[in-house]
Amino acid sequence: MTGSVRERVFVSRSLDALGDPSPLQPLRDAYRVDVWEGPRPPSAAELRLRAAPCAGVLCLLTDRIDGEFLEACPSLRVLSSLSVGVDHIDLAAAARAGVCVGHTPGVLTETTADLAFALLLAAARRLPEAERFVREGRWTRERRWEPDLLLGRDVHGAVLGVVGLGAIGRALARRARGFGMRVLGWTPSGRAVEGVEGVDLESLLARSDFLSIHLALGERSRGLIGRAELAACKPGAILVNTARGGIVDETALAEALERGHLAAAALDVFEREPLDPSSPLLRAPNLVLTPHIGSASVATRRRMAELAVANLLAGLRGDPMPHPVA
Ligand code: DGY
Repeated sequence: MTGSVRERVFVSRSLDALGDPSPLQPLRDAYRVDVWEGPRPPSAAELRLRAAPCAGVLCLLTDRIDGEFLEACPSLRVLSSLSVGVDHIDLAAAARAGVCVGHTPGVLTETTADLAFALLLAAARRLPEAERFVREGRWTRERRWEPDLLLGRDVHGAVLGVVGLGAIGRALARRARGFGMRVLGWTPSGRAVEGVEGVDLESLLARSDFLSIHLALGERSRGLIGRAELAACKPGAILVNTARGGIVDETALAEALERGHLAAAALDVFEREPLDPSSPLLRAPNLVLTPHIGSASVATRRRMAELAVANLLAGLRGDPMPHPVA
């Protein structure tokens, strides 16, 4: 079926703020586009209701696409996620329902690696704490410059362990080498990467001054960095996670920070987002927190939107999507 019969498409959040013309314009030119304009994301029931009559859906990583959703959408042929991660989608159920799924890898690689390195530097040099120190008026004449004020860790000359050597992990490794770090890497596929010393996970944990997680969340990576792995980290190591919260045991991480076994951590992603006010992470010392902004640059979010739209258009035409989920 072609776009000329004006099939329906549902977009689960307005993307108009991502630039003019709106990245949704090519969709609007060919389909009847219904955009969720609510002040908060749609609930699961609202998502099902609005997507039910549609041939295509453009969703976000906050939309749960499960068997119940797919059953409620019998006309659905194409699902396009504005994300590289697809752990919010039941891929097996989508395949059974004959729904093609697209995502947005590649375009966010460098931007996400930038944030991972920014977090690494922020945690190493205690930037949020230092900023609070100035703003809260604690930088006084009496404490103008102290030999031991806000001492952090050197990044240059340190060992970085990259967990997951996909595109983002490799982009982080390039940045780290530019900062004079030595880079170790472990990836489930055992892939060799130039400039990265491939090691097993155990040695990576034991040898790294900084660890950065770059795996997709799936059955094998869920809880990969648990209590035992954190205990196996080099004392004083610093952990960065910009991948998915479910990979790291948050309670064990909070305890490792409390005990001082880890010197610091920086997290952009959490098991549950937004972070629950009762999370032990909010009370843990030396922890830098950001609200899942790895890909949040103006240019990258626009490119992600354009790619999500291109996936949807191609899939609805019956053409191969630029980036189908493998
Ligand atoms: C993704 O795309 O999966 C990131 O987590 C958000 O940009």
